[in-house]
Amino acid sequence: MTMEYATIAIEAAKAGGVVAEHYFETALVKREKDDTSIVTRADEESERAIIEVLKKHTPDFSIAGEEGGEVVGSQPYRWHVDPIDGTSNFANSIPLFAVSVGLEKDGELIAGVVYNPVIPSLFYAEKGQGAFWNDGIPLHVSSQRASEGMVTYGRSRKPEDREPSEVLRAELSRSAKSARVFGCCALELAYVARGGTEGFVCLGLSTWDYAAGVLLVQEAGGRVSDLSGNPWEFGNGYFLASNGVVHNDIVAITKKLYT
Ligand code: IPD
Ligand code: CA
Ligand code: CA
Repeated sequence: MTMEYATIAIEAAKAGGVVAEHYFETALVKREKDDTSIVTRADEESERAIIEVLKKHTPDFSIAGEEGGEVVGSQPYRWHVDPIDGTSNFANSIPLFAVSVGLEKDGELIAGVVYNPVIPSLFYAEKGQGAFWNDGIPLHVSSQRASEGMVTYGRSRKPEDREPSEVLRAELSRSAKSARVFGCCALELAYVARGGTEGFVCLGLSTWDYAAGVLLVQEAGGRVSDLSGNPWEFGNGYFLASNGVVHNDIVAITKKLYT
């Protein structure tokens, strides 16, 4: 069994990782973008390195990169690239960040890689072939219930997601043993896939944040739905990814957030 696209994504993510590692724990100038999120030289250089690898192997595929790296290809495949997910952590020398590279075709996730070069930790998956960690260790979601487990969540900077995230935090704190925000959507999904956490609630994030991580959870035996428990469609940034066991308990909370 070959993982043709995951192999390309690993090479690309590692190229981005070299840049991120080079700049980690150095003094970086932080610039604020229009949505008030921050960007550094490391984000931009990492994206350039990733895109160079992707273009070399798949010149006809489209690319959507967070830092503006847009490529329009002739094939129905699109790479979704976050060169550093968790920039606020990264720029404050907190090692909870990751390079995220996901491949989608007509709304279906095909391959995904989440890579942190300083821990270091490499998570990868290809559709139908399972999800793996580092040197090929298979990933499986946990079997813990919400009352014994940890659920994390992340939200966009859009004003309409602020209040629902406050309600979510309060409700999750009651039903899960631990409710947290790691500030890195890609790693938070990877940790669900690895069985370290039981669920991740995404409120309004972008395709580059979650494309790779969602495939990891799916391939590790987890469940992904929209906030009402209905089938999730790629492009919908409002969803719950879980170990399956906690799913209905969390949906009971998330389905009321935007009503
Ligand atoms: C951020 C992370 C974080 C989420 C933020 C995102 P960035 O991405 O995914 O988990 O809560 O809203 O913007 O800006 O560090 O790539
Ligand atoms: Ca991001
Ligand atoms: Ca980013």
